[in-house]
Parts: sequence; structure tokens; C-alpha cells
Amino acid sequence: MIRAPRAHEIPFLPQIENAADGRYARVGLPRVIDMPPATVASLEQGRRDGRLWVATSLLNRPVGFALMQLRGGTAWLDQLSVLDRWQGLGFGAALIDRTAATARGRGFDTLYLSTYLRVRWNAPFYARRGFVEVPRGKWPRAFRLQFMTENSHGHPSWQRTIMKRDDQNGYLQRR
Ligand SMILES: CC(C)(COP(=O)(O)OP(=O)(O)OC[C@H]1O[C@@H](n2cnc3c(N)ncnc32)[C@H](O)[C@@H]1OP(=O)(O)O)[C@@H](O)C(=O)NCCC(=O)NCCS
Repeated sequence: MIRAPRAHEIPFLPQIENAADGRYARVGLPRVIDMPPATVASLEQGRRDGRLWVATSLLNRPVGFALMQLRGGTAWLDQLSVLDRWQGLGFGAALIDRTAATARGRGFDTLYLSTYLRVRWNAPFYARRGFVEVPRGKWPRAFRLQFMTENSHGHPSWQRTIMKRDDQNGYLQRR
């Protein structure tokens, strides 16, 4: 199930992010694990603004989450994480769709994200869900800055890209 998080669940979400990122060490990107997860403050702000969702287990405990940012007139999937043993069940796709639907409800037809190009569960995963790469010259200004910040935190920029999905063409409705 995908739902809004409760306040007492927020401190668990950085742990989920750290644990989910363990996958990167297995594909030669251990630096991703060293990077700081989303802060409790930004997650709490996201909860209050209705920009944060959790995927839950049968016991109604969070096993994944998505955080959206709205900056510079664009909507951005800032973080998406699902715990290892809950992956492959469609939670990632459902969290993306909930994020895109909320963005659309707030007037943002396009959802952006930054990700790794050749990691199986990153760019190829998003491409199978309707995202396309944005040519570098067409990156929105707000996200060029965001991308630079991410790179300064240790993400190797040459292995990364920005992708977008336009939902005004009815991507969500067609599914
Ligand atoms: C990216 C991520 C959120 C996807 O979450 P998820 O819940 O596994 O997503 P889904 O179940 O919707 O889709 C997973 C895909 O892996 C496949 N899969 C099958 N078995 C799987 C398994 N045991 N484990 C993982 N994936 C499996 C699914 O069939 C699906 O394939 P498809 O893309 O061809 O449809 C998750 O892999 C993750 O947390 N990764 C680490 C953090 C990360 O990379 N975040 C994104 C940063 S840009």
C-alpha cells in the first residue's frame, strides 16, 4: 500500500534509504552508500507539504518511500528507496505514479529526476516506466543546480543523467 507517512515514521526513512542503497556497492558504486541520506528535516517538511509517501508492509510499516521537491517551477523526484527484501513487488513503480499524480494535481505535468545511466534499477528502470533522458542543453535551470549539488556530494557526473516523464500526454491514464 502507498500512503502518507505519520510523523513518528519519519526517523526510519533515512535508515531505509541507507539500507536500499546497499545495492550500489554490488555494482562498483560504493561511494553512493557513503553519501548522507535525506535529512529528517527535509522529510518532515515533505510530510507536512504532502510531498512524501511511504510504501508499507502487510503490518503497515514503511518499507520504502518517495520524496518530491517542487523548485523553480518544476517537480522533481528527489528520493526513491525500497528495502531490498521488498523490491521487485511494484512498490517503486507505485511510488513513482503517486508522485507523478500529485505533481500533476498541483499543475506540474512533467516529473524530473536524476539517476545513474548504466545501473539496471536506475535509468533502465525509469525508461521502462515512461521516462526519457533530457539532453544536457535542455535541463531546467533549477535542476542544473540540483545536479551540481548532487555531484558535489560525490555522485560521478559522467555516469549520471536527468530524465523526465510528461504526464500531460496521459501516461498515467493509459496504464
Ligand atoms: C529503484 C527502486 C526504488 C525500485 O524499487 P522496486 O520496488 O524494486 O521497483 P519495482 O518493483 O516497481 O520494479 C523493480 C524491477 O526489478 C524487477 N525485479 C524482479 N525481481 C526483483 C528482485 N528480487 N529484486 C529487485 N528487483 C526485482 C522487477 O520485475 C522490476 O522490473 P522491470 O523494471 O522490468 O519492471 C529500488 O531498486 C531501490 O530502492 N534501489 C536503491 C535506491 C535507488 O536506486 N533509488 C533510485 C535512485 S535514482
